[in-house]
Amino acid sequence: MFDHLNAMPEDPILGLMAAFRKDPREQKIDLGVGVYQNNQGQTPVMRAVQQAEDRLIAQQLTKTYQGIAGDADYNQRVLDLLLGADHEVQTEGRTCSIQTPGGSGALRIGAEVIRRANPDARLWVGVPTWPNHIPLLGSAGFQIEQYPYYDRDRHCINFDAMLDTLKQVPAGDIVLLHGCCHNPTGADLNRQQWQQITELAQEKGFIPFIDIAYQGLGDGLDEDAYGLRLMASHLPELVIASSCSKNFGLYRERTGSTSFVCNNSERPQIVLSQAMSIARQTYSMPPAHGALLVSMILGDEILESTWHDEVNEVRHRIQSMRTLLTDGIQNNATGQDFSHIKQQKGMFSFLGISNEQLASLREDYGIYIVDSTRINLAGINSGNIGYLCESILKVLAV
Ligand code: LMR
Repeated sequence: MFDHLNAMPEDPILGLMAAFRKDPREQKIDLGVGVYQNNQGQTPVMRAVQQAEDRLIAQQLTKTYQGIAGDADYNQRVLDLLLGADHEVQTEGRTCSIQTPGGSGALRIGAEVIRRANPDARLWVGVPTWPNHIPLLGSAGFQIEQYPYYDRDRHCINFDAMLDTLKQVPAGDIVLLHGCCHNPTGADLNRQQWQQITELAQEKGFIPFIDIAYQGLGDGLDEDAYGLRLMASHLPELVIASSCSKNFGLYRERTGSTSFVCNNSERPQIVLSQAMSIARQTYSMPPAHGALLVSMILGDEILESTWHDEVNEVRHRIQSMRTLLTDGIQNNATGQDFSHIKQQKGMFSFLGISNEQLASLREDYGIYIVDSTRINLAGINSGNIGYLCESILKVLAV
C-alpha cells in the first residue's frame, strides 16, 4: 500500500536544522530554527528547570496516567502567567485551559475546538506568519484567508493595509495574531495598534486566536501579554495557544496550553470537555514532565525568581546581539539599511538579502538562515559575531 506514496519535501525550518548538524565546517553558524543559544552557543537547561527537575526526581512516586487535560495546577498557573491572576475573566470564572503537547499541539486543539463550535469559520492569518501555521491549521480543516502584516521594504508592520483587510472579516471568523515576538518578522503591534484591533473585533465580531510562544523574550513577561490581556478585557471570546518551549527552554518536553476565554462562567466547562474529547481522539494525554516542572517553578517563590532572572538574561542577550549585528553590518557596500534589526523584538528578524546572497552565506560561509531570510538572533554570540558580520559584508559587496 505504501507504493503509491511520494516522499514529502523537508520542513523548511527543521530540514535546515538537520542540514546544519551535518555540516562539518567549524565556523558554521546556525541562525535557523528558533531555539535559544547562550553566549557559548549552547541551549542550556535553565537553572530553575534543573533545580525543579532534581526536586521532581527525588519526590515523584508514580508515573501513572495524569488525565486528558494534564496537570490542573499547571493549567491554572499558565492562565495566571498569560492573563494575570487577578484579571477579571479569571475572577469571573470565564476561562479554562488544557495542557497540550507543545505550542503546536495547542494550536491544533484550539483549531479543532473552533471547528466544532463553528465549522464555517474561516481563519485569517497575517502575511507572513510562522511557516507551519498554514499547514498545521489548514489541516485542521480551516479555509485560510490572509491579511497583510509586514512591509518588507519599509521593515515595519503595514498597519493600514492590515486594518483595511480586517475590516472585511465577518462576525464569527477567526483572526490569528501573534501575542508578542512576531515569528518570523520581529515586528510587534504596539499598544495603540492592539487597541485598534480590539475595537475592530468588538465592532465586527471576529474572534482572535492568539499564538504566544515567546512570552518574556520581547519586553518582559507582563509587557508581552499586554495585547492578549487587553483583548480578554474587552472581547467576549478568545482562544490562546501558548508554549513553554522558549521561555522555559523545555523544547523537547512538549509543554504547551490551549486557553479559552468564554462569554460566561458556564461555558468553560463545556469548552474544556470538547478540548478533552479532541485530545482523547488524537494523542489521549499530554506528556507530563515539562508541565510538572513549570508548575513547580511557578509555585515556588525562589524557583520563580530564579526563572524570572533567567528570562531577563535571555531577553537582554538577544537584544544585545541585535545591536551588535546591526552596528556590524550597517556600514556596508550597498548602503543597505539594517536598523530595523536593532528595534525589533524576540528571536527573529528578516535580514532582507537576496536569494543568491542567502545561498552564498550557506554554501560559502556555513551560515544557515531560513529561506525567508529570517535570522534567529539567539544564534549569535561574542565568538561568532565577527565572522558573521564579515561574511554578510562580503556577500553584500559581490
Ligand atoms: C521556529 O519557528 O523556528 C520554531 O518555532 C521551531 C519550529 O517548530 O518551527
